[in-house]
Amino acid sequence: MGTDPSAAESARVTLRSVRDDDIEWMARMRTDATLVGEHNWSGVERSPAEVEADLRARLAADGFDGDADGTLVVELDDTSPIGDVSWRTERWGPSPRSACPAIGIALLPEYRGHGYGTIAQALLLDHLFSRDPELHRVQSDTAADNPAEQRALTKIGMVEEGRIRDAEYRDGTFHDHLVYSILRAEWEATR
Ligand SMILES: CC(C)(COP(=O)(O)OP(=O)(O)OC[C@H]1O[C@@H](n2cnc3c(N)ncnc32)[C@H](O)[C@@H]1OP(=O)(O)O)[C@@H](O)C(=O)NCCC(=O)NCCS
Repeated sequence: MGTDPSAAESARVTLRSVRDDDIEWMARMRTDATLVGEHNWSGVERSPAEVEADLRARLAADGFDGDADGTLVVELDDTSPIGDVSWRTERWGPSPRSACPAIGIALLPEYRGHGYGTIAQALLLDHLFSRDPELHRVQSDTAADNPAEQRALTKIGMVEEGRIRDAEYRDGTFHDHLVYSILRAEWEATR
């Protein structure tokens, strides 16, 4: 986390696997609402030590690259971790071909507002579609009051599909979510 965020627009965004030296900032981010962002804050209070232990166990188990979900670190200029992207498998029907990763992202506050999140999520689409030739669809959902993420998803070619009413309980009230997706042919057309 040494790169100047204001030098941003010419910086290079990449994704890489989670490493041992990421665990501390990842745990901090997950236990501090101001770091993870209001839209990713579950409201569940857990200590950084407890979360760090869970993250270390996950790193040892599968390196955050499981069959059903995974996490990659977003890095700036090959030196500074600035957040992470993740996916979890949703399934719209019993066939394995219905498996559909749902993607998410959290950037550290000082690295928001430079388009890095948009690039990182485009790279995640590349990663998921490239590594599984059978993958047909990737989806995402975001709070209806999160215009930055809605715009980022639209910019990477994802299409708004609909509104899930009162989907998420956060901050003492329920919030609608908007669902987005991109199909393989649409992703190929963006390349
Ligand atoms: C959401 C997030 C990934 C967006 O990443 P980002 O690339 O830094 O996004 P930016 O701030 O550069 O904005 C992306 C686009 O949204 C637009 N935007 C940002 N804030 C906006 C607002 N309040 N209203 C309308 N548009 C907005 C930007 O102008 C930009 O569009 P443009 O390139 O056409 O100008 C990042 O802000 C983040 O990590 N936030 C905290 C966690 C989070 O909310 N994750 C998503 C949970 S589902």
